[in-house]
Amino acid sequence: MDVHLSTPLLGSLSPRQFMKRHWQRKPLLVRGAVPDFRPLLARNELFALAAREDVESRVVEQRGGGGWSLRRGPFTRRALPPLSRPGWTLLVQGVDLHLDAAHELLQRFRFVPQARLDDLMISYASDGGGVGPHFDSYDVFLLQAQGRRRWRIGRQKDFSLQPGVPLKILAAFEPEEEYLLEPGDMLYLPPRYAHDGIAEGECQTYSIGFRSPQRAELARELLLRLADEEAGRTGETVYRDPGQSAVRAAGEVPAELQRFAQEALRAALKDPQALPRALGEYLSEPKPDVWFDAGAAPRAWRSLRLDRRTRMLYDGRHLFINGESWHASGPDARLMRRLADERQLGPAELARASDEALQLLAAWCEAGWAHEGVA
Ligand code: SIN
Ligand code: CO
Repeated sequence: MDVHLSTPLLGSLSPRQFMKRHWQRKPLLVRGAVPDFRPLLARNELFALAAREDVESRVVEQRGGGGWSLRRGPFTRRALPPLSRPGWTLLVQGVDLHLDAAHELLQRFRFVPQARLDDLMISYASDGGGVGPHFDSYDVFLLQAQGRRRWRIGRQKDFSLQPGVPLKILAAFEPEEEYLLEPGDMLYLPPRYAHDGIAEGECQTYSIGFRSPQRAELARELLLRLADEEAGRTGETVYRDPGQSAVRAAGEVPAELQRFAQEALRAALKDPQALPRALGEYLSEPKPDVWFDAGAAPRAWRSLRLDRRTRMLYDGRHLFINGESWHASGPDARLMRRLADERQLGPAELARASDEALQLLAAWCEAGWAHEGVA
């Protein structure tokens, strides 16, 4: 992707300009971001997704008197409110994992590092439906797919929430701007920008969401991984204290035990590559419901593409794919990085791959992580 080229997707800004002026900073409304955009799924197909065990879905309804209800899926068709009833919304998460066209739509946003990409959520609303005024902790592009939705947005100062409701709804929403989005229009919102979108007639909105790791959660994940890796490498090392003398102060933590704990952490972090490796493995980990269907190694190496569910990343020394890592250097590393960037390889690139690289690619095809052919 040429990040210097202006694109209708970003209202004739280039990805570079967008990232500099808007990303994490301020909203952007784009009329006709995706010209002639039509829903990628018919209403009944979306409802069928919401009925699946491996798909995360929710129904939000505004009850009379300002009350809200939230139900979690899966939903049989009969568990969904009737189409004629106003004021309800069905939210279906992770549609890109189930539909190639949805995965393809996300590829338009590859000017943002894929480590930040979360998923495509589709919301279907009956007239008047919405999830209430709220803010999200992540960046989101709200692409109107069907019908119209009126968005009111504002830089909120008071983030207090309405008590006693099952959703996070702002107690004192202060909208500053209002836009009516038609199919193909898109609104970018940075994290914590308050918004409320209300359907005018039957409406579908696609949310392209980005994840923002939380520092404490990341530390927990990484330390766990580093500890597991260290235990795997050195086996269990048990604390021993043959030199311990009898104590009068039985409650005091022995200094020797404090040193042992320090040493345990130092050992887990000793390999300078351990942390970037754990990070890449964590970031490329598929979501919990994701599984791959076993495939076959290609008979001829003409072209190769990653499965839509595959997460592939890299850093200066490693390749990461679906939670696993490989050390990578030399021409094969260049090839694999290209695969991670472009999600596909053509005949000329494959012709340059070493036997070792082809073996690895064949194993990924067998695991269902990649397939013969181009997208
Ligand atoms: C919706 O599409 O109904 C909600 C999306 C959002 O507010 O983030
Ligand atoms: Co939101």
